[in-house]
Amino acid sequence: MAHFKEANGVGEWLDQRLATGTLTKVLMTEYWIPKNINFLWAMGMVLAFTFKILVISGIFLLMYYKPDVNLAFDSVNYTIMQEVEYGWLFRHVHGVAASVVFLVIYIHMLVGIYYGSYKRGREMIWISGMLLFVTFSAEAFSGYMLPWGQMSYWAAQVITNLFGGIPLIGSELVIWIRGNFVVADATLTRFFMLHVLLLPLAIMMIIVLHFYSLRIPHVNNQECEELDFDKEAEKYKKGDKKGAKIIPFWPVFMAKDVFVVAVFMIFFFYLVFYHYNFAMDPVNFDQANPMKTPAHIYPEWYFLWSYEVLRGFFFSSDLGLAAFGVANIIFFLMPFLDKDKTVKPAHKRPMFFIWFWLLIIDMIVLTVYGKLPPTGPNAWIGFVASVVFLVLFVLLPIITKIDFNKAGGK
Ligand code: HEM
Repeated sequence: MAHFKEANGVGEWLDQRLATGTLTKVLMTEYWIPKNINFLWAMGMVLAFTFKILVISGIFLLMYYKPDVNLAFDSVNYTIMQEVEYGWLFRHVHGVAASVVFLVIYIHMLVGIYYGSYKRGREMIWISGMLLFVTFSAEAFSGYMLPWGQMSYWAAQVITNLFGGIPLIGSELVIWIRGNFVVADATLTRFFMLHVLLLPLAIMMIIVLHFYSLRIPHVNNQECEELDFDKEAEKYKKGDKKGAKIIPFWPVFMAKDVFVVAVFMIFFFYLVFYHYNFAMDPVNFDQANPMKTPAHIYPEWYFLWSYEVLRGFFFSSDLGLAAFGVANIIFFLMPFLDKDKTVKPAHKRPMFFIWFWLLIIDMIVLTVYGKLPPTGPNAWIGFVASVVFLVLFVLLPIITKIDFNKAGGK
């Protein structure tokens, strides 16, 4: 190699072979972050960290778990919980992390919506984020089936049944997914494969896409100020660190992220040691019994809002299924339904601000009623809240256009 030069140290040796210097600049020392962002912008890093916790604790559980309908329940409730040293700790860490990750995902999504971080070049960040949401949901659902408790079994029965509502191919599809006419051993084995292999791999790849899609548009900021990153970077590199409106990710911003992750860890381990049961339904401590349907079947708290949309149209299961399908994909369309061409925080967009809070209130109502039996007034409240959810998205293009026009397009 004509251009080969003797390396001066390990760093240079690696750089000559793998361009590690360029990579460090691109990802770390010259990856520019706006100065004026608060702790809400650390939620992405908290998510990345929680995903690592899930993978590591999951690997430990995998050493003792048995994906067989005759062994699964005991392998979790006796072997892991009672016989393996610290098995209980790994199970609680995994269970709490699976629940808390959704809390953080919802906060991260709401921050994105509030500040319009899905607009003007940031569409791919949003779309890859939504892909993460859907894959995480599938990961949580498949994991919930593994302990083979009563709720694992019946939730799988209800959710796989939903595919039966798809015209023409529905009934065949349900059998194909279950690998049997009913949820059975074949279903458990394939959900196990999805949970420990295919979905985690997909999540890792989508996280890379999500991070990569941040590279060119950069993250938004609290004032939604459109920054000239090249100009600001030039200032920073010339030594005007105070005047520049940006800082490099490494080491300055990373320190802020690490601080938020550390505070999150205190909250996380508090839950693990003192409230681990909040992530475990008592019904799931009974082994799956296909002959005994539980009085109420409901999913984990993070799926309750969409489950309630499914049940909301109690007079027509087809309508319910259609509404459920729409509710699950509608968030993908945020960048295209929001017709305000400017990027502004919600408190500077009067109608959107009301829309945002109505959405949160409505999703809380759906979550609360999703856990209650759908009878009497509950059924009607569920119906109204489901209709409100769908109507909010029909109104979104209209109200964002009004806000935009009223602000004179600025
Ligand atoms: C495990 C899943 C996820 C991880 C690890 C992750 C990670 C990150 C990171 C590190 C950032 C940059 C810093 C920040 O703003 O927090 C970010 C930004 C962003 N993410 Fe995620 N994210 C995930 C899921 C999602 C989801 C479900 C959505 C919503 C659909 C989403 C939408 C966004 C948006 C819009 C931004 C840009 C924020 C801005 O510019 O202000 N992400 N994400």
